[in-house]
Amino acid sequence: MREAGVNLVSVGIFSWSRLEPVPGRYDFEWLDRVLDLLHGGGIAADLATGTASPPPWLVHQHPELLPMLADGVRLHHGARQHYCPSSPAYRDAAARLAEAMATHYHDHPALVMWHVGNEYGCHVPACYCDVSAADFRSWLQRRYQSIEELNRAWGTDFWSQRYSDWAEVIPPRRTPTWPNPTQSLDFQRFSSDALLECYEAERRELAEHAPGVPITTNFMSFFKPLDYWKWSQREDVVSNDAYPDPDDPESGLIAAMNGDLMRSLARGRPWVLMEQTPNRVNWRPVNAAKPPGLMRLWSLQQVARGADGILFFQWRQSRAGAEKWHSAMVPHGAPEHSRAWQEVKALGADLGKLDAVCGGGVDAQVAILLDWESWWALELPSKPSGELRQLDQVRAYYRHLFDANVAADFAHPTSDLTPYKVVLAPNLYLVGEAAAGNLDQYVKAGGTLVMSFFSGIVDPDDHVRLGGYPAPFKELLGLRVEDFLPLAPGRQIAVEFADGSQGGGDLWSELVTPHGAEEIATFGSGELAARPAVTRQHYGEGTAYYLATRLDPPSMSRVLSEVLARAEVAPTWSGPAGVEAVRRDSPQGRFLFLLNHGEEEVEAPVPAGGLELLSGERLASSSITLAARGVAIVLEPGSGPSAEAVEAARVPAEHAGEGSLAEAGERDA
Ligand code: GLA
Repeated sequence: MREAGVNLVSVGIFSWSRLEPVPGRYDFEWLDRVLDLLHGGGIAADLATGTASPPPWLVHQHPELLPMLADGVRLHHGARQHYCPSSPAYRDAAARLAEAMATHYHDHPALVMWHVGNEYGCHVPACYCDVSAADFRSWLQRRYQSIEELNRAWGTDFWSQRYSDWAEVIPPRRTPTWPNPTQSLDFQRFSSDALLECYEAERRELAEHAPGVPITTNFMSFFKPLDYWKWSQREDVVSNDAYPDPDDPESGLIAAMNGDLMRSLARGRPWVLMEQTPNRVNWRPVNAAKPPGLMRLWSLQQVARGADGILFFQWRQSRAGAEKWHSAMVPHGAPEHSRAWQEVKALGADLGKLDAVCGGGVDAQVAILLDWESWWALELPSKPSGELRQLDQVRAYYRHLFDANVAADFAHPTSDLTPYKVVLAPNLYLVGEAAAGNLDQYVKAGGTLVMSFFSGIVDPDDHVRLGGYPAPFKELLGLRVEDFLPLAPGRQIAVEFADGSQGGGDLWSELVTPHGAEEIATFGSGELAARPAVTRQHYGEGTAYYLATRLDPPSMSRVLSEVLARAEVAPTWSGPAGVEAVRRDSPQGRFLFLLNHGEEEVEAPVPAGGLELLSGERLASSSITLAARGVAIVLEPGSGPSAEAVEAARVPAEHAGEGSLAEAGERDA
């Protein structure tokens, strides 16, 4: 580990059956030895509470804690995460283990962070058993107070679903056809909260018995079942697991989006990449190896987008168990023959040079709205089209920003949007009053909003907002949507811009009647010919655009280029295509990250006189050669302390781990 510059290790994530081999008897001896060894080697621990996989004895004592699927099938032990999130037996036993761990390890010098559970919801995002049903009813009683109010919110007069007593209410189990949509939406809200309560139960014990140690649990990027806006408020350090597919040409973009989401969730707190794989995973149908340089590129990309730590799953590749074919930093064979090991060592050395970057943010002038509740509601069945996917719509916008090197945050629609010049709203299907008012105010006060089709359609009860679509935004957008005309997969619709140039859309189209909005583009054929496809409306001091179809990438780029230029949002950097550029500002200076996703060497413009941190070279000219998958990190001249000061702050690989993260932990706690 010292050879690879490792300075933080996650320990004990799935160790419950070792830590508590029989009920109530804890065995910490082996873990003491591990933590002492780590500390002796100058390595800190992100110590897991070990509760993500209940031991067989607990299941034997409490078979009712096994989770149940919507169709009544019980999941059994023998893999992992086999617990019902609402189970008091599970929650109590997990909290007791967390308490015992905190009591035993609170002053261990290796301990710098707690890792609660693991990837909440990964395999079992929701449970439909009777215990969950009772917990769901309590949750609903808190939300609605009376059964009448639940009947109103769920619209139970439809299909004779009216409840006369709380006892009749169940989770949306397998039904002959679509279950009640508001029931389904509430169950998603409840399931996210039930898992959060598991985390909270452990967190309370840790905070009480080991005060001052930062607490995290690892997220899974854009993970639909958990409302990470809520979850991240309960973390001291946000952490993420990301496994982009080396075989997918979109992976560079997806990984960038993951990083931006984590930085946004962290809201100024530190975040770390908790898991990535050094090479292959084992859980895709075909598990592509990472070609040379890709692991380094994707690691430094996360640093560029705000990560202050880069970790891996896993240290040593196991001989036994379900993940023995998942790659590791230390492989089955001799490490010196493993490219992954060589690359891991080199990455350790690279990261040791980047302390000056830590704590830095990314100054984004664009925000993309993302609301889990709207995402859940959008993807419930029985819509004009079953093809609408929240993340597809997000990506349709993000693609242009990524290619154009425009930094963007993600934001909840009720959050403070005033720092942003442009706000993008991809398919914001569900909006509450606060969100609608916030967007209205934002534009009135001078902001620029771009909103896609099928937004502002339902309220938080998933009831259609009447008065003409999209009811809360008609005035703001200066239009009315008369009807939805979804497009079958593979069907395109022509789009014609005002200057006569042609574009296209797919997935969806709408019959729009402008009431003040000007037409930027119209549909070019069929029933919608000459009707608006893209509009713009001046509203208050600001501007609101509306897209009535999913524009193809060139058309989307064209619209967004205009939007960004008018709002005076400048790209971070301009250079050869395929090079991603992100600027991180820290108290130590401005750092320009250039990441070449291409497989060819390129010449990239850089600020002359800057200091390239990875090579330690002062840049004499205004361009730099980036190898295929190469990275440069340039401290911009005059943006911080002297190059000598940054040089002095560089941590030589053999001393990595001495202090910096532990100190960061104390500071942030
Ligand atoms: C997740 C888990 C790890 C491991 C990896 C494999 O991220 O947290 O325990 O299973 O997936 O990729």
